[in-house]
Amino acid sequence: MLLLAAAFLVAFVLLLYMVSPLISPKPLALPGAHVVVTGGSSGIGKCIAIECYKQGAFITLVARNEEKLLQAKKEIEKYSINDKQVVLCISVDVSEDYNQVENVIKQAQEKLGPVDMLVNCAGLALAGKFEDLEVSTFEKLMNVNFLGSVYPSRAVITTMMERRVGRIVFVSSQAGQLGLFGYTAYSSSKFAIRGLAEALQMEVKPYNVYVTVAYPPDTDTPGLAMENKTKPLETRLISETTSICKPEQVAKQIVKDAIQGNFNSSIGSDGYMLSSLTCGMAPVTSITEGLQQVVTMGLFRTIALFYLGSFDGIVRRCMTQRVKSEIADKTA
Ligand SMILES: *[C@@H]1O[C@H](CO)[C@@H](O)[C@H](O)[C@H]1NC(C)=O
Ligand SMILES: *[C@@H]1O[C@H](CO)[C@@H](O)[C@H](O)[C@H]1NC(C)=O
Repeated sequence: MLLLAAAFLVAFVLLLYMVSPLISPKPLALPGAHVVVTGGSSGIGKCIAIECYKQGAFITLVARNEEKLLQAKKEIEKYSINDKQVVLCISVDVSEDYNQVENVIKQAQEKLGPVDMLVNCAGLALAGKFEDLEVSTFEKLMNVNFLGSVYPSRAVITTMMERRVGRIVFVSSQAGQLGLFGYTAYSSSKFAIRGLAEALQMEVKPYNVYVTVAYPPDTDTPGLAMENKTKPLETRLISETTSICKPEQVAKQIVKDAIQGNFNSSIGSDGYMLSSLTCGMAPVTSITEGLQQVVTMGLFRTIALFYLGSFDGIVRRCMTQRVKSEIADKTA
C-alpha cells in the first residue's frame, strides 16, 4: 500500500516535471506597461493602480463617478517614478452597455497603447437571506460582478492574443470559493467568475495570455462598509471568524500573482487553505503549487469539516435566539 502511494507520488512528480516548461509563464514587465483597472477609484482597485504605478506602469482608471476618479488620480500620481507616467481617467459603467465599454477601451489604447494588463475590480457586495433579497438584487450583482468583468475582458482580449502578451485579472472573493449564509446572490456572482476564468485560461494560454483569479477575504474598503449594513446577524458572526485585510496588502499580492501569471491569488493562511481545497480542475502554474495541492487536500478537507460544523452551529444558535425573542415578544 505504502509502496503504491510512493510509486504514485514519484510518477506524479515526474509528470509535473515533464509538463513544467509548458506551465511556467514568463513574468510581465510592468515598467512602461499599460494597465487598465476597473473599479479603480476606491478600495482594492485603487490600491492595485498605486501598486502598478509604483512599478512604472501607465494607468487607465475606469469607474463611474468622475469626482472620485479625479481624487484617485491625484493620489496615485504621488507615487510616480518617472515623469513620463500617465494616469488616464475614464468614467463609464462597465456593466451597462458592451459597445460603450469597447469604445472607451479603444480610446484608452489610442492614448496609452495596447493594454498589457486588465484588472477587473469593479464589483459590489450585498448580503441578505434568500427569502428577503429582491430578485433585482440577483440581477444587479450578476450584472456588476459578472458581466462587468466579461465586457472589459472581451474588449481587450483580441489585441492581447494578437500581440501574444497579456494578463487578465478577475477579482472573485473567498465567497466565490464557498457559499455562505446571506450570500446566495453574491456568492453565485463570484462563483461565475471562476468558471469564466478557467475556460478563458484554457483558450488563451497558447497566445501567452494569462488569467489570474483573486479570492480576497473581507477587506477594509468603502465596499465593505456598505455591505456591512446589509449583513444578517449570521453572516456577520461567520465573517468574524476570519480577520479583515488591508486593501494595500491584497493589492500587493494580486499584482505579484498577476505579473507571474499565477492562476490563483489568495491571502493569508485561510486563503491558502481555501485555494488548495477548492482548486478542482483549475490550471497549475508551478510544480510546487500542484504538489502542495495534492499533499494538503485531505488535511484541509478535515479542517474544513470543523469550520462547516461551527458555521452550522452559529446559524442554529441565531435561529434559537430569534424564536426565543419572538415568544418573548408575543407574551409581553
Ligand atoms: C464591518 O464589520 C466588521 C464586523 O463584522 C468590522 O470589524 C469592520 O470594521 C466593518 N468594516 C467597515 C469597513 O465598516
Ligand atoms: C494560491 O496563491 C497563493 C499566493 O497568492 C499561493 O501562496 C498558493 O500556493 C496558491 N494556492 C494554490 C492552491 O495554488
